[in-house]
Amino acid sequence: MLKTHGCGELRPTHIGQVVELAGWVHRRRDHGGLIFIDLRDRSGLVQVVGDPSCSAAAHAVLDEVRLEYVIQVRGLVRRRPAGAENPNLPTGEIEVEAHEVRILNPSRPLPFSIDDDGRRIDEAIRLRYRYLDLRRARMQRNLMLRHQIIRAIRDYLDARGFVEVETPILIKSTPEGARDFIVPSRLHPGKFYALPQSPQQLKQLLMVAGLEKYYQIARCFRDEDLRGDRQPEFTQLDLEMSFVDREDILQVIEGLLIEVVQRVTPHKRFRVPFPRLTYVEAMARYGSDKPDLRFGMELVDLTDVFQESALEVFRVAVQSGGQVKALRAPGCAGYSRREIDELTAYVKSLGAKGLITLAFTGDGVKGAAAKFLTEGEQAAIAERTGAGAGDLICMVADAPETVAKALGGLRLFFRDRLRLADPDEFAFAWILEFPMFEWNEEEGRWEAMHHPFTSPMDEDLDRLETDPASVRAKSYDIVCNGYEIGGGSIRIHRRDVQERVFRLLGYTPEQARARFGHMLEAFEFGAPPHGGIALGLDRLVMLLADEPNIREVIAFPKTASAVDLLFDAPSEVDERQLRELHIRVVREDQG
Ligand code: AMO
Repeated sequence: MLKTHGCGELRPTHIGQVVELAGWVHRRRDHGGLIFIDLRDRSGLVQVVGDPSCSAAAHAVLDEVRLEYVIQVRGLVRRRPAGAENPNLPTGEIEVEAHEVRILNPSRPLPFSIDDDGRRIDEAIRLRYRYLDLRRARMQRNLMLRHQIIRAIRDYLDARGFVEVETPILIKSTPEGARDFIVPSRLHPGKFYALPQSPQQLKQLLMVAGLEKYYQIARCFRDEDLRGDRQPEFTQLDLEMSFVDREDILQVIEGLLIEVVQRVTPHKRFRVPFPRLTYVEAMARYGSDKPDLRFGMELVDLTDVFQESALEVFRVAVQSGGQVKALRAPGCAGYSRREIDELTAYVKSLGAKGLITLAFTGDGVKGAAAKFLTEGEQAAIAERTGAGAGDLICMVADAPETVAKALGGLRLFFRDRLRLADPDEFAFAWILEFPMFEWNEEEGRWEAMHHPFTSPMDEDLDRLETDPASVRAKSYDIVCNGYEIGGGSIRIHRRDVQERVFRLLGYTPEQARARFGHMLEAFEFGAPPHGGIALGLDRLVMLLADEPNIREVIAFPKTASAVDLLFDAPSEVDERQLRELHIRVVREDQG
């Protein structure tokens, strides 16, 4: 090794020792004769002093070095002079008197400073020079945290008899609701592999294979529209167990999350056992199937209040089968016209036709709609929502899904505006009993809400063909602070039930056999009852690291338009490569 110690490890106990250090020049100050360098390596920073009266040669080299030069230093650890200590630095009581300095490699000036958290720097430049961006303390901390989380997960699962098994990346399409990335085959002209959207089918086959308890830190690939909490390739903690029911999976994951949080972020608070809500309850109370439960502000149903109301838009909405719901924004009665317009524009961007607000003040209810409301209606609104003087009531009337989306979104808007959520709390919760199917309006067919291998609830199985909308699934999501961090289900393990579900999803028996014949066949060879879950590891790390998006916890992420700016991928390939793959690129303009 070119060093005897890490820069950040040195303490007063090392005083008097001669040490060798190697790292990067993080800061450099020239103080009339003395040169001070903050030398950085992964362990932290230490101050190195170049004093010509101790070593003229070392001082001369330090005079030459610039930021981010890689240097090796041999020197004496000594106590800093009184008054020169830095209490903000773990090594702040000592410094290293340089005796010998060697430049291992110079550096060009950096395109940006790495001496801050990088939040003000254009992300495209950070990603273009990601290897420099990763030098900043914040990013080093995030990568370290990710490593610790994965280690805690592995320890926990290992102690409970889980086996980590790798599954292939070149495979056949696995339906998780996104588009597949496909890979052309050179050896089989005109044929393609698909990258797995998750190891779903493989882990089920491992259960048929008798593994009983499987997990994998698995890479998944999905060609979908990206957001802050999505990447085209991402990592799951993927898990599957045999001979279990829903409760067993929930217990394993609840225990795992508690252990990970206690080990890695012990200062965070959370509630145990994790609250459980049905999908219907979550949508009704929070307008979301991934509610942020760190604060209340529940949606209140006012539909019946407006049945006969003189407020026409609401009455018409109710009479045509819609809903009226409200939420109470405490202390917001004084909002200006401009602020109300901002709220209205926001709910409109979420699909609502408009927003009606009522300001409860010391002298009555104010707002454009107030004059259309009877005293009885106003009293009913106050009673249901708990509105008192100073509160603003925000109401939306529409189809239930639209109301949920608009008010669920507005609830999060107020969370941020009024700082209603405790940043040191993890509000984990289970969402249960999702609908089995969703109607795809565009394509005029049923889709699996989770995936087609999810088992319907036993008591709903009879209605699979007659009333698919009412069938609930044995599926569950784990949510935290408004994010879905994982989802899973108890699976179908009988061929007849799997075939009924495929039929309902619109697959002919031939299509089902062509795509999923291997699964249907496997179910005929003594497939055990089984179920599992996958946690979005990037999202979990993002939450534990207090980061606003998953790119900050992925070493080499892609941009929101799925581009790798460091490698400049995707990119064109040679004609020869294309020929070998039996592929011809036809550009739109060439027809
Ligand atoms: P699902 O599709 O719900 O389930 O995915 C599980 C979890 O993975 C995370 N996730 C993502 N994270 C980042 N970028 C993405 N594009 C992305 N997509 C999903 C989410 C999500 O909750 N095979 C099933 C699991 C099972 O049934 O066992 C599956 O993949 O946090």
